[in-house]
Amino acid sequence: MTQDVYPVPQELCDCTLCTDEQYIEQYARSIHDPDGYWGEIAGTFEWFKQPTKIKNTSFHKDDFGIKWFEDGELNITVNCLDRHLKQGRGNKIAYIFEPDSPRYPSGSVTFRELHDRTCQLANALRQLGIQKGDRVAIYMPMIVDAAVSMLACARIGAIHTVIFGGFSAQSIADRVQDAQVKLIITADEGHRGGKHVPLKANVDQALKLPGTNSVETVLVVRNTHAAVNMQMPRDRWFDEVTRNQPVECEPERMNAEDPLFILYTSGSTGKPKGVLHTTGGYMVYAAHTHRMVFDLRDDDVFWCTADIGWITGHSYIVYGPLCNAATTVLFEGIPTYPDVRRTWQIIDRHRVTILYTAPTAIRSLMREGDENVKLSERTSIRLLGSVGEPINPEAWRWYYEVAGDSRSPIVDTWWQTETGGIMISPLPGATALKPGSATRPFFGIKPELVDAEGKTLSGATEGNLVITDSWPGQMRTIYGDPQRFFDTYFSTYPGTYFTGDGARRDEDDYWWITGRVDDVINVSGHRIGTAEVESALVAHPHVAEAAVVGFPHELKGQGLYAYVTLNAEVAESDDLRTELVKLVRTTIGPIATLDVIHWAPGLPKTRSGKIMRRILRKIAEGELGALGDTSTLADPSVVDHLVSTRSAD
Ligand code: WT7
Repeated sequence: MTQDVYPVPQELCDCTLCTDEQYIEQYARSIHDPDGYWGEIAGTFEWFKQPTKIKNTSFHKDDFGIKWFEDGELNITVNCLDRHLKQGRGNKIAYIFEPDSPRYPSGSVTFRELHDRTCQLANALRQLGIQKGDRVAIYMPMIVDAAVSMLACARIGAIHTVIFGGFSAQSIADRVQDAQVKLIITADEGHRGGKHVPLKANVDQALKLPGTNSVETVLVVRNTHAAVNMQMPRDRWFDEVTRNQPVECEPERMNAEDPLFILYTSGSTGKPKGVLHTTGGYMVYAAHTHRMVFDLRDDDVFWCTADIGWITGHSYIVYGPLCNAATTVLFEGIPTYPDVRRTWQIIDRHRVTILYTAPTAIRSLMREGDENVKLSERTSIRLLGSVGEPINPEAWRWYYEVAGDSRSPIVDTWWQTETGGIMISPLPGATALKPGSATRPFFGIKPELVDAEGKTLSGATEGNLVITDSWPGQMRTIYGDPQRFFDTYFSTYPGTYFTGDGARRDEDDYWWITGRVDDVINVSGHRIGTAEVESALVAHPHVAEAAVVGFPHELKGQGLYAYVTLNAEVAESDDLRTELVKLVRTTIGPIATLDVIHWAPGLPKTRSGKIMRRILRKIAEGELGALGDTSTLADPSVVDHLVSTRSAD
């Protein structure tokens, strides 16, 4: 492990929101007096009714509950929009829109325009019968109307659930059914990397699947102007229903604990779960982390490259930056189209000051060589961020030295869909950096390491990462399944929130996330549950059984390695292999692309029939000498067979 330390740049010490001394003092306060700390932060927002009760939480079975600011009343869009208009910032740019193709002009939207468009859509939604508490799905390209759609829902208290534009019809249908979605907002098509994504056609297909009858209306944004099937009266054009609406819309009065959105994410078992975030705590946490971690300044141009279909987009493209009146780049495309210089050109074109991206993107740009980067100036950059998976020290150094010209600190931010916002991260003006370490906990966050039995570990060591007390941005439940919420996160190590990650704490109390310790695979920063992939595979008539594990992948962080047992009499073939890869892609979406299919006449199982994933992981990783004890297996020869048929590369 590296011993390199990168101190806080001298110039930052005078103009940062938080120095090291302040971090230490305020962190201690946030832990000892959470009510005082978070009450004060909450006071910087606009509430219809200021909260007087701050924290009311317990992770214990008997009195389990998570409530923050519970008597507060607010509307998050008032904080994202109206508040800035009142403060004379209506003409500040909220979004700089950069289209997929650089041949099209970029655009911008001021806070005033964003407010007006949000209100128009909110009025239209109300007219279409959407009320507080109704669920609205958003299946959109990365365009301004995607953010407008989220905000319009929040304006009227509807609960949005954004579905990533790369997900399949089946995935849309699963989510629509689980959330009993009443209205879907989509677009005719999206542009991505020069290709057209048939969003409306996918929605049409999804709504033919069983369990989707709850959908009454589909609003369609004209984006590429491609011809799409409009099924009247269900389908309505977005521009037609919004055009004549007033640009003012009375914001719904929300309790702090009223739901704001549901976002589906993969777990280690079963179908994706609907992570539910509420209004007050989420707002305070997303905005406060955004301001502090990125050491925000009024003239910043912030660019988070995530899609709004992920939590990163929710917290750091929409709610956090808008609450902070920041100017944000919204990019429709991908970093490698039309070529690998795209990221750096966008930075120069819009004078981006903060770049927040994922290790997988960094590694793929690193592979293209330094020349492509050096063709750009990047003089506007003052801070770099990383999120989504552990960043290997080599990629960290390249990001720092080449992308950032050894000038800009890197904030390696560890968090999860469930946490709502950043949990462990450097603060640029306070924290000396170590490549590969997410460094120290954010205000109010109490991480701990426990061993397999749940015993707390002290000192420099490695273990399972738990959080021992609540923070405002924490998810409140799994939509429709509070028992699963408790069981998934609070029963493994009673009294604590279990993250599913492993971590190491070093002698300086710095945190190093080592990756998932459960059956969740992190492919290019996207979570994929092994169970989901396995159930897609066994849906094929020739497949008897399947087990999927992750393995180290040079670009994606982790790749998907599937062991597949075919039915008797079915021959292994490359055609079948191709068919299975395609099946998983169409069931889940292109992010679930199998890297390896290993034909397995049998899977290693215990005598009670449990698949020994530990062994499958080792074989996938190529660590054939470290398989451990196989004597408890029902049939140890299965392992020998898998080892001997593992392909060499
Ligand atoms: C999982 C959460 C939260 C935004 C994107 C992913 C991994 C996330 C880091 C990091 C090491 C990281 C963890 C976590 N992860 N950030 N900086 N260093 N690992 O959200 O899809 O909910 O995935 O991503 O394994 O549990 P998500």
